[in-house]
Amino acid sequence: MVKHDVKDIGLAKKGKLRIEWAAQEMPVLKSIAQRFAKEQPLKGMKVVACLHVTTETASLMETLKIGGAQISLCASNPLSTQDDVAASLVKNSGISVFAIKGEDTKTYYRHIKDALALKPQITMDDGADVVSYLHKDAKALLSGVIGGTEETTTGVIRLKAMAESGALKYPIIAVNDAFTKHLFDNRYGTGQSTMDGIIRSTNRLIAGSVFVVAGYGWCGRGVAMRAKGHGARVIITEIDPLKALEATMDGFELMPIREAARIGDIFVTATGDINVISKSCFPLMKDGAIVCNTGHFNVEIDIDGLASMSKARRIIRDFVEEFTLRSGKRIYLLGEGRLINLAAAEGHPSAVMDMSFANQALCSEFMVRNAKKLGKKVYGVPEKIDKEIARLKLKAMGISIDTLTPEQKKYLQSWEMGT
Ligand code: ADE
Repeated sequence: MVKHDVKDIGLAKKGKLRIEWAAQEMPVLKSIAQRFAKEQPLKGMKVVACLHVTTETASLMETLKIGGAQISLCASNPLSTQDDVAASLVKNSGISVFAIKGEDTKTYYRHIKDALALKPQITMDDGADVVSYLHKDAKALLSGVIGGTEETTTGVIRLKAMAESGALKYPIIAVNDAFTKHLFDNRYGTGQSTMDGIIRSTNRLIAGSVFVVAGYGWCGRGVAMRAKGHGARVIITEIDPLKALEATMDGFELMPIREAARIGDIFVTATGDINVISKSCFPLMKDGAIVCNTGHFNVEIDIDGLASMSKARRIIRDFVEEFTLRSGKRIYLLGEGRLINLAAAEGHPSAVMDMSFANQALCSEFMVRNAKKLGKKVYGVPEKIDKEIARLKLKAMGISIDTLTPEQKKYLQSWEMGT
């Protein structure tokens, strides 16, 4: 068997069936896999992927393997691994996986190191932990890397900071910046899966609740939209005046977080920044307030601050921790403040990951073909790839659209014609 560290290889059968179920909703990735099988664009390439180990990631890994790559996979979050999927990838697909749901921070980084033992030419990140590890702790491997891809907003922000300071040593394609990624995955994926995580972990009624969403980026919009659909009174907190204005005109109430703290029943952070729900917010909250995060890192809620002002804490049900403040007030933290959609549910549905991971597959092919021409920068996804994925997705959904007539094309290219 290939090298691995997974929870229980005996879970492989269950994982295989769930991967098959998810793959039914991933026709774009399937069509890419069919082409990759013939063309072998990744032949001989060693890929280290640091992604949430889910049924959808399994389809991506299998597609890269079909395209000729050798892969080592580790988790991009200690709580997001689906152990049955990890087992199936090892046993049924012959792919090295180093990931266990609930692993501690030390094991998380050891798994990144284990995956990197492959000596990658391509890195595939969700949050930039592999790039960061390579640049800080495994510099000797950098010379072998031709390029990488990054899945998420937070990772892209980190990588752009690295590129700007001159630290980045190889080109990266920001998959997150593709329209076929963030418009669908961040909005509809996060929207649905975050509600799913909150509902699965709490079984609380959303209708009639005061639901506070911190951040009105694409993820925050998705969550707000779905919470509203459930019948909640939705409040948005923002620091960007444009996004705040947009949220207002989308029909949401806007206010500072400390004001929202007093009235919210459920709080979700989706900002990518640190201490958005800070220590000073907790004493203002109602008894029984629920707080969770759907941003990439577990930094958005000041958990240490919450712990320091609590006289007791206990796990009251799976993914729900009760903190009792000295005043007697209870605050409930979901999923250890890690992304609730992957910690307590299964992440984004396959139909959106189909497009995100089609971008990953096509961008790794692009990287193999073009790495030599690229600088040590963060690049957007080529428009041709983005449009092609949208076209394939529509085709798979059986939706046809119009094309411009020659007369319309001419009109768009001319400036003489007015009223
Ligand atoms: N990120 C969010 N949802 C995901 C999923 N289902 N698989 C992999 N990465 C994800």
